[in-house]
Amino acid sequence: TTAAAAHRYVAAIDQGTTSTRAMLFDHAGTVVASEQTEHRQIFPRAGWVEHDPIEIWRNTRRVAGAVIAAGEVGPGEIAACGITNQRETTVVWDRHTGQPVYNAIVWQDTRTAELCEELAAAPDALGDPGVDRYRERTGLPLSTYFSGPKIRWILDHVDGARERAENGDLLFGTMDTWLIWNLTGGARHDGLHVTDVTNASRTLLMDLRTLAWDPDICADLGIPVAMLPQIRSSSEVIAPLTLGGTYPDVPLAGILGDQQAATFGQACLEPGEAKNTYGTGNFLLMNTGTEPVFSRHGLLTTVCYRLGDEPARYALEGSIAVTGSLVQWLRDNLGLIASAPEVETLAAAAEDNGGVYFVPAFSGLFAPRWRPDARGVIVGLTRFADKRHLSRAVLEASAYQTREVIEAMQADSGVALTTLKVDGGMVVNELLMQFQSDILAVPVVRPVVNETTALGAAYAAGLAVGFWESAQDIRDNWAEGGRWSPSMDDGERERLFAGWNRAVTHSYDLA
Ligand code: G3P
Repeated sequence: TTAAAAHRYVAAIDQGTTSTRAMLFDHAGTVVASEQTEHRQIFPRAGWVEHDPIEIWRNTRRVAGAVIAAGEVGPGEIAACGITNQRETTVVWDRHTGQPVYNAIVWQDTRTAELCEELAAAPDALGDPGVDRYRERTGLPLSTYFSGPKIRWILDHVDGARERAENGDLLFGTMDTWLIWNLTGGARHDGLHVTDVTNASRTLLMDLRTLAWDPDICADLGIPVAMLPQIRSSSEVIAPLTLGGTYPDVPLAGILGDQQAATFGQACLEPGEAKNTYGTGNFLLMNTGTEPVFSRHGLLTTVCYRLGDEPARYALEGSIAVTGSLVQWLRDNLGLIASAPEVETLAAAAEDNGGVYFVPAFSGLFAPRWRPDARGVIVGLTRFADKRHLSRAVLEASAYQTREVIEAMQADSGVALTTLKVDGGMVVNELLMQFQSDILAVPVVRPVVNETTALGAAYAAGLAVGFWESAQDIRDNWAEGGRWSPSMDDGERERLFAGWNRAVTHSYDLA
């Protein structure tokens, strides 16, 4: 197309749990330039996790400008920009000053556990009592994980917040919304207050079928609809953005929650296709097509993506709260390793886990168990165990949790997994990938471009402006970059998994 001829790149901003990056991709989906900055993790109390929204906005501006300099891009060479983000993390700010009224409450934060329990028990609330009372409308259980209860907490605990929200002075957003509002003018020029269907589907406030805010649930949770953003599709021209310096504006044309973006970037575009991302947590999403499939085995139903006016595609999701962040914990909280890659060296020095299992239920347990009362435990210690076994147990925990989610996925969908497509930071870990394949008894494959999250957002934006023509371009760009095949015997596989299942029961009832 002419657009493809004039424009050489698409930009993506990926605002994640630990860092913010900006990337440039070319038509083949190759990374041309990349800039990244970490932000502070704020832990005010046990179970609380916050981010500073202003710090994240500053980082976003910096990396967006820097990636243009790094890519040595000429004016007019960027066709579009996509944005993708850590989901659920909640910001509430004043539309007149642009100041957040409280830090961002991160998806991992469990401060709303009691609130969720109360809501689940309330007899006069919507539907039947219980954690599944909103599931039929939203696809989600009542959980600390989602934005709705976090907004409610802010309205309940920040002085005057509820009144200001009711007067229309406060706005809510997940990170996409917060950044787009700032990138399009903020308080001074009346920034755009928008989100996309995938991010909205993580709030516990959106009806999965109408793709609109559900007024009953909002009323139930005590959240004024006026503070919620407008819901757009994942791929459409939204607004012009200034990315850096004196460059002409480029159209913001794609928004996707990061896990949905990775699903898109992995070209999981047909029903039954799935990916597993190893980030701070693990998120396995399976495309189920144009109909939402409701889980009976502890998975979430969520919007996978919506391209322009096309019908939305849905996904089943298995969310695991803690995988990669357990390695960080080993490094930062215990000081057992100096850098994340060391965990593999240590783990490889042990023959096996020595009977040690680590259940990292730091935020309770998410899918498929949904136990807010769970907390982390290490079991099976003997005088023999040392840091090598502990490191091994840390890595194995990601693989066992993934197997639980895949078993639930197979039970819900009736689709047997033949290979597992993976991506994310931890896939460089050979030991983990081999163990994952062993414990699942299926091959594990990763694409050449491991930056599938940013790539997925770039695809969404590039499709909206005709830089890529169709989904076929996305499929054609996917190429296998690594493969691990199972080599463990069945007896050993099942012995280890049984050990994990026993260990998990010891994490219950600790909160
Ligand atoms: O639901 C939380 C998820 O979106 C976080 O992803 O990669 O930022 O840890 P990540």
